[in-house]
Amino acid sequence: MRQKLAVYPGSFDPVTYGHLDVIERALEIFSPLIVAVVDNPNKQPLFSVSERVAMLEEIGSNYPGQLIVEEFKGLLVDFLRRERASFIVRGLRAVSDFELEFMMATMNRKLAPEIDTIFLMTNEEHFYLSSSSVKEVAKLGGNVEGFVPPVVEKKLKEKYGMMPGEVTVQPLE
Ligand code: PNS
Repeated sequence: MRQKLAVYPGSFDPVTYGHLDVIERALEIFSPLIVAVVDNPNKQPLFSVSERVAMLEEIGSNYPGQLIVEEFKGLLVDFLRRERASFIVRGLRAVSDFELEFMMATMNRKLAPEIDTIFLMTNEEHFYLSSSSVKEVAKLGGNVEGFVPPVVEKKLKEKYGMMPGEVTVQPLE
C-alpha cells in the first residue's frame, strides 16, 4: 500500500528554526514530505521563490531522500491534488495563530473534502519566532544566529548588506 503523502505549505520568507521544527515533527509521521513554497503574485517577499526553494533544498540535504521542495502558484488544494497528496501540515505556535489557521483549514476542506489539515505544535522554544520578526532583526543589524539556519543567515546578510550583529555607526560630522 502506498504511504499517504503530506504537503507542508508556506511562504518560508525565510525559513526559520520554527519551520524546521515542524518539518522534523512531520517527518516522524510522513516520509517523504513535500515542502511547498508559495509563489504569491500579490505579495512582495524579501526572497524570490527560487531563493526560498534553494535555501530549503540546501537544508533538505540534511534529510536525504526525505524532503521534496517544490513551488506552487494558485490554490493549495489544487497543488495537493496534482501531487496526489492527502494531508496539509501546518505549525501552530500560539492561540493567535488559531483563528487564521482555522479559517484556512475550513476553506480548504470546503474546496477539497478529501484533504485534511494536520496541525503540529512547535517546540515552546520557537513560539516567539516568525519570518517577519527575523527579517526585522536582520535588517536592523541584530544577530539572527539562533533563529535561522546558517544558509539563511548568510542570505539575510547578503540582502541587507552587512554582517548579522553588525551595527552601522554614522560617522561624526
Ligand atoms: O507561511 P504562510 O504565509 O502562513 O503560508 C500561507 C499559505 C501559503 C499556506 C496560504 O497563503 C495558502 O495556502 N496560499 C495558497 C492560496 C490558497 O489556496 N488559498 C485558499 C486557502 S485560504
